[in-house]
Amino acid sequence: MAKITYIEWNGTEHVVEVANGLTVMEGARDNGIPGIEADCGGACACSTCHVYVHPDWVEKLPPREDMEEDMLDFAHEPDPARSRLTCQLKVSDALDGLVVQMPEKQI
Ligand code: FES
Repeated sequence: MAKITYIEWNGTEHVVEVANGLTVMEGARDNGIPGIEADCGGACACSTCHVYVHPDWVEKLPPREDMEEDMLDFAHEPDPARSRLTCQLKVSDALDGLVVQMPEKQI
């Protein structure tokens, strides 16, 4: 279980507990948090689950796989350091306290 803070582009914060084994995208979807659309359902094929990870967390997350890296090219204003696709981030206790911010728009 991890407590994750999702911050909308307008600054609205949503703090939710997400079960281990889900993805950060599923945590937003299951809690009705706006700003993560996840059109492809988590197949790493749409880039609409894009977020900016808080700087404190960039180094703590597993590195991007090639597929995530490629899909991020299609995201809205990706940040080379902080952008991630939330469907590729598996929740575990290690992610407790994670903070992510949604982009101004998804694609
Ligand atoms: S949900 Fe489509 S790339 Fe993450």
